[in-house]
Amino acid sequence: MDMESIKKRIDKDIKEISNLKELNDLKVTYLGKKGVITELNSKIKDLPLEEKKEYGQKVNEVRNYFQGLYDKVKDDIEREELNKKLESEKIDISLPGTRILQGAPSILDKLVEEVEDVFLSMGYDVVDGPEIELDKYNFEMLNIPKGHPARDAQDTFYIDGDEVLLRSQTSPVQVRTMLEGHGEIPVRVICPGKTYRRDNDDATHSHQFMQIEGLLVDKNISLSDLKGTIEVIVRKLFGKDIMVRFRPSYYQFTEPSVEVDISCFSCKGKGCSLCKKTGWITIAGAGVVHPNVLRMSGYDPSVWSGFAFGFGAERMAMLKYGISDIRTFYNTDLREVGTFDRKEQD
Ligand code: DAH
Repeated sequence: MDMESIKKRIDKDIKEISNLKELNDLKVTYLGKKGVITELNSKIKDLPLEEKKEYGQKVNEVRNYFQGLYDKVKDDIEREELNKKLESEKIDISLPGTRILQGAPSILDKLVEEVEDVFLSMGYDVVDGPEIELDKYNFEMLNIPKGHPARDAQDTFYIDGDEVLLRSQTSPVQVRTMLEGHGEIPVRVICPGKTYRRDNDDATHSHQFMQIEGLLVDKNISLSDLKGTIEVIVRKLFGKDIMVRFRPSYYQFTEPSVEVDISCFSCKGKGCSLCKKTGWITIAGAGVVHPNVLRMSGYDPSVWSGFAFGFGAERMAMLKYGISDIRTFYNTDLREVGTFDRKEQD
């Protein structure tokens, strides 16, 4: 058979190959036991000696020709299959991954920590008290006896009859702290904590909220000590040139009692929407501890005197961080809380 026409046949056959299986079948057709080239090879033995060499070389050439094409096509098909596989399993690293939402410390915790830092630096202790409180500590020993009209504004949740309730203020911790001091040692504490009232929730009311109570009892304490202390804390929290003013007020456990106003840090006292055009913002109630309260808690008012104050933590945080709805603190919306870090960057 003419070697050139075999090569042409190989060319034609190999062009039709589209996968490895067909390629393998083609190999059997040419090089298998009864393959075309194998047959050609087996004819060598029948040829006269002088033709054997030349014929053998030609068969070899055809075999190499086939093998060369075979190897190339095999490579091509395998590469193509690999590419297809890679294509179908492609990982697009530019696609955004699944986001794991990250929380942040509560804004209130952050504020409380800041306030604690300032008071600790002034030698105060941070104390705790129970949220489930006795009427005796929440009201009576704070000079608010049963039937006193001041109780109306502090209606709360009762747990067991009339005597056990969720504290409506952190002021009972004043009583508890003084009782522990047995009328003998000076007291210097703050108590940040949760408080409760039977209020309907809206933008400025929450049935659960937080107060930061303060109490100092020592000798010769006056209203001016209170003012100096408040000035330190507000300047630390709201800025160096904040001014503090006291307005007369009424609380049953302090006498005299005051409302603490600070000059508006937003408009610097000129009047804006934050301070309702007054230039001042109320941030706490405070006063000189009432002699009755000292006496009931074991401190002799002729020897000891003191001051007390109560900040609304949410109100402070709302002012400081420009939050307009108190519910922000309690609905844990990550879009909001996520923007606050524990510590402010200096
Ligand atoms: N307990 C008061 C309230 O809830 C706030 C307060 C006012 C606390 C005057 C005090 C104080 O310690 O001296 O409205």
